[in-house]
Amino acid sequence: MSDVILRERRDAIEILTVNRPKALNALNQEVMDTLHEIVGELSMDTELRAVVLTGSGKAFVAGADIASMQELHPLEAEAFAGSGQDMGEAMNRLQVPIIAAVNGFALGGGCELAMCCDIVLAGERALFGQPEVKLGVIPGFGGTQRLIRRVGMAKAMDLCLTGRMVKAAEAVQMGIASRLVEGDVLEAAIETAETIAKNGPVAVRLAKRALIENEDVSLEAGLKAERSLFALCFSTADQREGMAAFLGKRAADFTGQ
Ligand code: CAA
Repeated sequence: MSDVILRERRDAIEILTVNRPKALNALNQEVMDTLHEIVGELSMDTELRAVVLTGSGKAFVAGADIASMQELHPLEAEAFAGSGQDMGEAMNRLQVPIIAAVNGFALGGGCELAMCCDIVLAGERALFGQPEVKLGVIPGFGGTQRLIRRVGMAKAMDLCLTGRMVKAAEAVQMGIASRLVEGDVLEAAIETAETIAKNGPVAVRLAKRALIENEDVSLEAGLKAERSLFALCFSTADQREGMAAFLGKRAADFTGQ
């Protein structure tokens, strides 16, 4: 497999690093296809508990690759945007959580990629933005739609129309990022993944599903889905173990069954 995405396994945690530092990890077709393929492979991994996604060097991802977009015909641009959006949807469908360790620029497609992750940790040097209008285009990997949902219309308009960059603290305040990390953001993301890995594995997967799959439904439909997923937890050994361990005043030993 190509080295545009580096992979490291630490027990039940997979660490993925977008690795085109000379182009600030810009997303070309190869990076997107590779990431999409890896996510597909990870979706069959029953030992996996969480994924961490970061970038090599000073950027998380500085956007879709401008050089490879420059000459696109409109239909090719539609297909390119479609493959970025499909990759994001595959990340949302991955049952285990993906934690973004945003170590630097997360611009355009990079901001969109971060927003496809379930927890976004912003390092002190993180910078988020949707600067596409400066290039004469608009976000194409889901930025307009995910921003509306994350930050609301007023702030989404501000970011998409001005193209301005926001630092970590403002990104957290807006709701693009979950948390600001002082110090090593990758280590913080791995620690977060380790915390998640200690929780009931089935419950973690169902909690992600309850949130992701019901973002756009009515409250009534979302509550109904939550009840069903809550009930499903009671068919697992993890539920019996988690509650017995609590009541027995011992640490739970989850099997993911
Ligand atoms: N695509 C391709 N190459 C990129 C890139 C991108 N998105 N971002 C940076 N690079 C390349 C630069 O061309 C440069 O290459 P060379 O060394 O060969 O000249 C290298 O990475 C380093 O970049 P800079 O010299 O510009 O680094 P800097 O520290 O001075 O500036 C930056 C950093 C502010 C992030 C600046 O690189 C920049 O503005 N990048 C573009 C950001 C952007 O517009 N992203 C949106 C892309 S469009 C998009 O993503 C559409 C979509 O939603 C699908």
